[in-house]
Amino acid sequence: MLDEVRRRLHPRRLRNSGKRAKQALRKAGLAPKGPVYGRLADVGRAVPIPPRARVVLSTALLRRPGRISVPIDRMLLGAQGGWTAREFAERTDDLLWPSTRVIDGPHVDLLRLAGSTDEEILASPYGRMARRCVDAGGHYFGARTNSEIVAVARRFLSGDRDDERRPAQSGRSDPILVAPIRGSDHYQVLDGHHRLARAFARGETTARVVTKWMPVTTPLQDLLLRMSWLDGTKELYQPIDGPELAKSWTTVRRCTDRLEKMTKLLAERGVTGSYLDVASCYGWFVAEMGHAGFDAQGLERDPLAVPLGRAAYGLREGQIGTGDAVELLAYSDQTYDVVSCFSLLHHFVLGRGSVGPEALVKLLDRATGKVLFIDTGQENEAWFRTSLAGWNAGTIASFLRQHTTFTEITDLGPDDDAHPPYADNYGRHLFACIRT
Ligand SMILES: C[S@@+](CC[C@H](N)C(=O)[O-])C[C@H]1O[C@@H](n2cnc3c(N)ncnc32)[C@H](O)[C@@H]1O
Repeated sequence: MLDEVRRRLHPRRLRNSGKRAKQALRKAGLAPKGPVYGRLADVGRAVPIPPRARVVLSTALLRRPGRISVPIDRMLLGAQGGWTAREFAERTDDLLWPSTRVIDGPHVDLLRLAGSTDEEILASPYGRMARRCVDAGGHYFGARTNSEIVAVARRFLSGDRDDERRPAQSGRSDPILVAPIRGSDHYQVLDGHHRLARAFARGETTARVVTKWMPVTTPLQDLLLRMSWLDGTKELYQPIDGPELAKSWTTVRRCTDRLEKMTKLLAERGVTGSYLDVASCYGWFVAEMGHAGFDAQGLERDPLAVPLGRAAYGLREGQIGTGDAVELLAYSDQTYDVVSCFSLLHHFVLGRGSVGPEALVKLLDRATGKVLFIDTGQENEAWFRTSLAGWNAGTIASFLRQHTTFTEITDLGPDDDAHPPYADNYGRHLFACIRT
């Protein structure tokens, strides 16, 4: 059957012309490219312009006139300690800082701590945020020592913060300043975290803010847009919970359906121990199998999976190894009780791997102690109807029987990912290859 699939393959069919056109446009700078865009926005703010000119530029040209009403729960944490949100996230190794809602952030948290001791304030998220500013080489509203940080916090708790009282030159109070986040209905706070936190604590749901014209991007958006597999598309291959992703990012694979089938089978068979996800992307399965009690690791070609997995799922340093699966598996004798490999095999069937699909499953077989979970693109999917004709649940099961040493190959049924915009794709069968 595989020979039949290979005969049908024509190099031109393998090309995805839409994707290539988009790539070309991006390379030519004619299509938006998140990371560059996000950095340009920051660089613009860092240009050394005389202070008076900067104020004129910022107030008269870069800000939209008037104030608008924005729901407070759509405001995300932003600039701190004189750094842009991105700089603060990078300097303090907290990629998700600009992806955190103000209402879940340290300022709102501190308002719940009224009456607390200095030690409690310093140990709170607010105290730690201030300390991070200092440790990164800056200060927090002029504070550098612990007692100065506590004084700043106490001024905020007593409603006596400078930035809330300071009258603007016009005689009106300084506005809360925000920037729209690209591809999102959320805003990044540039100035006014304390005022927003206090408004939220008073039970207000919206705030009047001044907004910049130019949208910003978050580091999370930038990393996702740079992942090679996603090729600049606003897609999440595995679920990531980021408020600024909710509006225009599509979660391609819901993943929970496959995980449920895996954990059920493993529980029935009493399998525990170590787990390796080959081609793990940024590690949703690694994280979930870790929560299920497995010593979980991932292996992924794209190095950006590492910072994404750490930020999005709290994966440990080294939990995702990076490199080519074929090379890494070929040079390792290590085995894992459970191995998974999702949506990789068909790329080898289509001739895009460094070896044939038989060699890939042999390597997976060798790395597996007890159970291998595997799925692959199939002929029922619109985008593979011709190129993978004949590659279906029946022929895949035969292929696995023929090229591996497992004693049992069980078809656990199709995934639940055939929904718009991919209603004509997916429905890939999950196979459990078991050694009894
Ligand atoms: C279609 S995605 C599947 C992601 C994940 N397995 C899932 O199903 O949720 C394919 C992933 O495999 C990775 N990949 C492709 N070829 C690889 C290789 N030779 N070695 C390691 N990873 C590879 C890609 O970077 C991408 O993250």
